[in-house]
Amino acid sequence: MTAPTAPPTPRPEILAAFEAAKGFMPVDEGLALYAAAGEAAALGLPLVEIGSYCGRSTLLLAEAARAAGVMAVTVDHHRGSEEQQPGWEYHDPEVVDPVVGRMDTLPAFRRTLHAAGLEDRVIALVGRSPQIAALWQAPAGLVFIDGGHTDEHATADYEGWAPRVAEGGLLVIHDVFPDPADGGQAPYRIYRRALESGAFTEVSVHRSLRVLRRTGAKI
Ligand SMILES: C[S@@+](CC[C@H](N)C(=O)[O-])C[C@H]1O[C@@H](n2cnc3c(N)ncnc32)[C@H](O)[C@@H]1O
Repeated sequence: MTAPTAPPTPRPEILAAFEAAKGFMPVDEGLALYAAAGEAAALGLPLVEIGSYCGRSTLLLAEAARAAGVMAVTVDHHRGSEEQQPGWEYHDPEVVDPVVGRMDTLPAFRRTLHAAGLEDRVIALVGRSPQIAALWQAPAGLVFIDGGHTDEHATADYEGWAPRVAEGGLLVIHDVFPDPADGGQAPYRIYRRALESGAFTEVSVHRSLRVLRRTGAKI
């Protein structure tokens, strides 16, 4: 019997940068995302993220992309989601632009990638996810959905980006909470929709992170 192989881990300095970056993803979910990204990167296609925020999860996609010689692409308008606005639970006053008076996470995002030496591995697209999705035609090895968590935004992210996942590639969704007592239901609803479409098959579950493989052509 062969010993089970240990899951891949990022370089220690990248893990340290992940832990130091602003963001919401716990380390164990990050490692699961990194493992999925490493597997998907073997397809030789870009790894796409919806919801860059300050670059915490982007670092892990970039690190997996680096190892495989592909690019990470990340999409965000950098004005924050509903729950990150002033007065809401996840607001961080440090990411408000004092001149404009609105959130701007792009400077922190750039600092995160620069400090980790991964700037050259990432294409950052600044804009609204549905508008970018309407222009983006290239297939992706992985699409990671972690953008707006309202039904409107999560549905648009699913409809705009899930069709871009190449056959055999991975769709990863964050903040999936089957029990409404644990969190908002929009990511859970698109997760259910992906499975019910018949185009995706569940690969793994890590707390609120769901990894699905595209196994069918029609979404
Ligand atoms: C939960 S945060 C992403 C966290 C990040 N993935 C991490 O783990 O570090 C969600 C991000 O999605 C962005 N966002 C929300 N709705 C968006 C939309 N319609 N288009 C582009 N970005 C959006 C917000 O600006 C915010 O930075």
